[in-house]
Amino acid sequence: MTTTTLTSFDKLRESVVGLHQQVPLLDGSFRTYINFDNAASTPPLGGVLEKVNAFMEWYSSVHRGSGFKSQISTSAFEEARRIIGDFVGARPAEHVVIFGKNASEAINKLAFRLSLNPQDVVLVSLMEHHSNDLPWRARAQVEHIEVDALGQLDETDFEARLARLAGRVKLVAITGASNVTGFLPDIHRLAVKAHQAGAQILVDCAQLAPHRRVDMLPLNNPAHLDYVALSAHKMYAPFGTGVLVGRRDTFEQGEPEYRGGGTIKIVTPTTVDWSSPPEKEEAGSPNVVGAVAMAAAIKFMQSIGMAAIADHEAELTAYALEKLAGLPRIEIYGDAVPGNSRNRLGVIPFNIAGFSHYLVAAILSAEWGIGVRNGCFCAHPYLLHLMGIAEAEAEKVRQNILNNDRREMPGMVRVSFGIYNTREEIDVLAQALSRIAAGNYAGKYYQDKESGEFRPEGWSFDPREYFDL
Ligand SMILES: Cc1ncc(COP(=O)(O)O)c(C=O)c1O
Repeated sequence: MTTTTLTSFDKLRESVVGLHQQVPLLDGSFRTYINFDNAASTPPLGGVLEKVNAFMEWYSSVHRGSGFKSQISTSAFEEARRIIGDFVGARPAEHVVIFGKNASEAINKLAFRLSLNPQDVVLVSLMEHHSNDLPWRARAQVEHIEVDALGQLDETDFEARLARLAGRVKLVAITGASNVTGFLPDIHRLAVKAHQAGAQILVDCAQLAPHRRVDMLPLNNPAHLDYVALSAHKMYAPFGTGVLVGRRDTFEQGEPEYRGGGTIKIVTPTTVDWSSPPEKEEAGSPNVVGAVAMAAAIKFMQSIGMAAIADHEAELTAYALEKLAGLPRIEIYGDAVPGNSRNRLGVIPFNIAGFSHYLVAAILSAEWGIGVRNGCFCAHPYLLHLMGIAEAEAEKVRQNILNNDRREMPGMVRVSFGIYNTREEIDVLAQALSRIAAGNYAGKYYQDKESGEFRPEGWSFDPREYFDL
């Protein structure tokens, strides 16, 4: 990574909303917030906010209004659809871009719309976010492709399952990047194998798309992706939009799961003729503002270049892994080799031996102003596997949770980087973790039984002092 590139990424910080926000600490001081929770949600880009504000001057109903503003809004909405489709290599003759509210909804829509019967098999992997596992369990037989001790996909197991279940696997539904370890499966290689076995492939790109170029490829290429799901709140546009891009032929058949305004050609008291996709799939008034924001964020990321984003984040990841490796009592999960940082995302899960993940996260927030995520990251099966938790122990944990006691819930602390994070922020994290590992923290923390969370004793604040409606 050259200094010039680093400098331009430093400048980029100026265009991210809220990065200079001061937050209160336990000792009464204030500190600039460090956000290492980008895998959950990213802050908005200033350019996105500006575009949204400019658009509000023209905001009106889309598709159904005849007024001038409606025409401008409709044009912006359809332009956003085109930009998002281009971003993932969609071809209008082959694919449709369907707006919804997040990646979970996009995957649930596909689970509803694919023609599956209860005996069909959907292959998911053990590393999936629950949003790419549970929708399939409701519709078909789900099998989980194994992962190894580092949480990396076992492709031999994948092939063995495809062979054993020959003819029954209708879909391979796999993440493009793990939200826990940052592992990047070779999605196009998996696509070739899935297609050879007569299955289609969905790639959950909620984590992948903000960090790497996604290319669905034309349908006549054996490595093509049949469907991808995207999430704008992980792409610097948190305005309530998610997208499913998928094969047009799938959505030309059948009926939508939500029915209502905008989905039909003509309705009589006894007949319904559905519109063509994507209109058929978007019941009710769409989130036009969210679509505009998502497209603006994509244009911004494209102006930086997805390769430059990947380089910058790989550099941060390698730096963080080096720093963490030098600290006592830190256990990193997944691939912890700094030299491999180009082949994974900047998502690093870890624990400090002898410390609850809940406590580490609480101290980082209350004493250092660092926002991380802790717990199981909506990927319970994967976490249990990475932590080597046996079935009997997992059952005990389950019973505790059903009894509203999360105190012993296994979990990890996760830091995840975005385009605007810096080495200096990682230095602060490393300093904080080394102090915590040495037992060097100021507060007394108590644990809430129901949530499992630790909270500093004698410290409370009114959120409305910071933001009130
Ligand atoms: C891999 C993955 N898939 C799906 C989701 C769900 O995304 P959304 O919040 O947009 O529904 C997440 C969210 O963390 C994720 O990390």
